[in-house]
Amino acid sequence: MQLKSLQNFFQNGLLGYYPKEEINAFFYRICEQHLKYKRVDVSLHSDTLISPETYEYFETIIGRLLSYEPIQYILGTTSFFGLEFKVDSNVLIPRPETEELVAWILNQADTEQPLKILDIGTGSGCIAVSLAKQLPNAEVYALDVSPAALEMAHYNAQQNAVELNTIEANVLEWKPTDFSFDIIVSNPPYVRESEKERMAPNVLEHEPHLALFVENDHPLVFYRAIVELSQQGLKKHGRLYFEINEYLGTETKALFSSNDFDTVQLKTDIFGKQRMLCATKR
Ligand SMILES: C[S@@+](CC[C@H](N)C(=O)[O-])C[C@H]1O[C@@H](n2cnc3c(N)ncnc32)[C@H](O)[C@@H]1O
Repeated sequence: MQLKSLQNFFQNGLLGYYPKEEINAFFYRICEQHLKYKRVDVSLHSDTLISPETYEYFETIIGRLLSYEPIQYILGTTSFFGLEFKVDSNVLIPRPETEELVAWILNQADTEQPLKILDIGTGSGCIAVSLAKQLPNAEVYALDVSPAALEMAHYNAQQNAVELNTIEANVLEWKPTDFSFDIIVSNPPYVRESEKERMAPNVLEHEPHLALFVENDHPLVFYRAIVELSQQGLKKHGRLYFEINEYLGTETKALFSSNDFDTVQLKTDIFGKQRMLCATKR
């Protein structure tokens, strides 16, 4: 079979399940990873004969995509802030809005002085590793309750040639005795159970619920705990950054007392959704 016939076979196998542009994007991404062909090479080599193993590989991927498994889990990798991250079903797939949070932190970060940074709920380590890469002056800590996530974060740190100090802890019960950070950042679980019905099957059926969901009655449970921790754990003028539930910006902002925090700023993402918050410690 020629490469162009494989492309037709792939498209026909997924039509009706995904928009055509997305199917093509999947195809080019798989070709790049499996055949080392860039998009332009796919056209240039459309007459190339592909091996039976390659055909079987694409057939298997079609099956997995038909069950709405995310392409990032299938290929085992994704990119975030210009870096490559290994991902599997133990960790959330890093999202573009989280890249905006990282960019905001970097815009405001002191690049001259030594910094201590803590990322709570690190998952794949995307935030922690990106910050460590961009801020060589920073000592970065990454906390998660999931040992599998921490293993992945550690692996991603190694692959991207940065150091991470990992902490396995449940942030809701974590009582560190002596800690003080210049920056604490968290993208904690924030999707209410009631929001499940609006979610796409690729997220709902494949991404870890531990990373996503909170009870309807306590949607800010992680934010409250982290704000409390930050009262002791942030240095004077230190900053706490959150990715937030776009529907709960006002409620999240209300968790900060003016006794402890100077300014609390909400920020919208490129789609105009309230997605980020930064609070500065008094
Ligand atoms: C929304 S994901 C964020 C992952 C990653 N930081 C990102 O931005 O893609 C939330 C993370 O919080 C972790 N988590 C959930 N409950 C936790 C808890 N009680 N204590 C610490 N981490 C927790 C999950 O394992 C998950 O990795």
